[in-house]
Amino acid sequence: MCGIVGFVGTPPSSSAPVGDHPDGAGVVLDGLRRLEYRGYDSAGIAVLADGASGAGIAVRKRAGKLANLEKCLADDPLPPSATAVGHTRWATHGAPTDENAHPHLDATGRVAVIHNGIVENFAGLKAELLADGVVFASETDTEVVAHLLGRAHEETGDLTEAMLQVCRRLEGAFTLLAVHAGTPGTIVGARRNSPLVVGLGEGANYLGSDVTAFISSTREAMELGQDQVVTITADDVEVRCFDGSPAQGRRFHVDWDAAAAEKGGYPSFMAKEIHDQPRAIADTLLGRTDAAGHLVLDEMKLDESELRSIDKIVVISCGTSAYAGQVAKYAVEHWCRIPVEVEYAHEFRYRDPVVNQRTLVVAISQSGETMDTIMAVRHAREQGARVLAICNTHGSTIPRESDAALYTHAGPEIAVASTKAFLAQITACYLLGLYLAQIRGNKYADEIADVLQQLHEVPAKVQEVLDGLEQVRALARSMADTRSVLFLGRHVGYPVAMEGALKLKELAYIHAEGFAAGELKHGPIALIEPGQPVFVVVPSPRGRDSLHAKIVSNIQEIRARGARTIVIAEDGDTDVEPYADTVLRVPQTSTLLSPLLTIVPLQVFACELATAKGLDVDQPRNLAKSVTVE
Ligand code: F6R
Repeated sequence: MCGIVGFVGTPPSSSAPVGDHPDGAGVVLDGLRRLEYRGYDSAGIAVLADGASGAGIAVRKRAGKLANLEKCLADDPLPPSATAVGHTRWATHGAPTDENAHPHLDATGRVAVIHNGIVENFAGLKAELLADGVVFASETDTEVVAHLLGRAHEETGDLTEAMLQVCRRLEGAFTLLAVHAGTPGTIVGARRNSPLVVGLGEGANYLGSDVTAFISSTREAMELGQDQVVTITADDVEVRCFDGSPAQGRRFHVDWDAAAAEKGGYPSFMAKEIHDQPRAIADTLLGRTDAAGHLVLDEMKLDESELRSIDKIVVISCGTSAYAGQVAKYAVEHWCRIPVEVEYAHEFRYRDPVVNQRTLVVAISQSGETMDTIMAVRHAREQGARVLAICNTHGSTIPRESDAALYTHAGPEIAVASTKAFLAQITACYLLGLYLAQIRGNKYADEIADVLQQLHEVPAKVQEVLDGLEQVRALARSMADTRSVLFLGRHVGYPVAMEGALKLKELAYIHAEGFAAGELKHGPIALIEPGQPVFVVVPSPRGRDSLHAKIVSNIQEIRARGARTIVIAEDGDTDVEPYADTVLRVPQTSTLLSPLLTIVPLQVFACELATAKGLDVDQPRNLAKSVTVE
């Protein structure tokens, strides 16, 4: 959840004027600004004094958003330094206070540590340290690590050795960065079940929770394996496993640049990312067909014969990614005639799911770091299932621990609530479904080509929706005082309704529920009272059997009971007009592809209403971008 940045530049010669010293704190602060979406209830930076004397560590940290730390640094700047680490926190142990903010120091003040994750055995370790007379300055599990590292360093005289020793004692999930006053120009990092990537620069190296931490300085990066310790200096990177044996990180190039992680003139990342959606879909489709129009997904590295032999697909994911999985179920079952189960990763893991060698488990995750999904992936593999990750983040844990990966190309998603990754995930699921239909012979080539052609037309149609948003914006502003909104859908419109409700809850803090429209009469219709706003996601009237007629009946039922009906319907659908207080239009497309269009007005509605309430749409309260605890 937390954001971590480390920087080691080339230290100046002793005679260099102060102005020539690297501004380590500035580099790290820049990285923290890009990572603030990961967690934002406190922030801090530590720098090491330059020069061989290793005079000491200077720390600034503040509770609250990064702006509080920036103000503190403006009032009381850190000295120039070539070695700096920084942290934005999403509190787990201890309230978000100045004391609990990272970095944490050991008893001597010569070791500083930042940490993401939870040290599960911290209580036992802390009791041991307390019994030994150690005085704690915070309530965090991280401070335990700082004291342990300080003691291990006293024994070994070497920060890497000390880190290896300490990591072997820790249980749980953690990314750690540590510096020692005696070794300027060096940062030691460690990871278990929590992300850490290395940025490889010229005369400088970086560490980050993800590549956005250093993307403005370098696009060359190295991914670390599980249970590894990395030691970086300005011109060297050394990786070792927790048992001390040498290891190699995997180098990769980041194929997007710093501009992709900026707001680009929009008032928020959320607004920018909603407007990025045509590109996110187009980029996810890009390069996945050959000259003859056949789908080529060799990058997944799953054998065609394996894919032919699967008899069930289980999608595991959480939140918005789970709704992408639910949309995929309708399409993949229809195209491939393979049963698809969709389950929250945290539920899958703790029951006794029936999966085996003939099950393809598809783990969908934007971040690739959601702990619930990681644990479910491991469980599925232990049962013998093949696991395919659909992921937006190269170098993250879920694709690394899966048998295969299909990347979405949505670019960095910074706003905490997911938008463009959702559309890219649905697109990737469609590609997977069509690919399975192609290799298993469920569909003729021309049928697949036809759906692909329709998919390629979707980005322009999403753009059309984005170009005509004034009506939904005005509606949102007029509803800023609303206390409860319901969302209804059938078929693929049902997960869209749930995603619309989720966006409104997390962005605008309004009670919202999504229902299957057919379920209404089995209970939820009791909620309908005069004036209750209800969004209804309507499928194409050209679509499947009587689906459209059924939902028009549902609209009539709620209208008759006084609901205020806001209907999302495709251009030309006049059947809904007599029963709709408001109709929000989307371009025509096939029912199975329609979620890529119908979700857009719902995203914009939530974003605009939250903005009208004066809320921060990029960083809603209590949330973090990647949820790295179970
Ligand atoms: C909601 C949202 C979350 C994530 C969920 C899974 O807007 O963003 O519900 O979808 O936490 O995250 P990933 O996809 O990173 O595994």
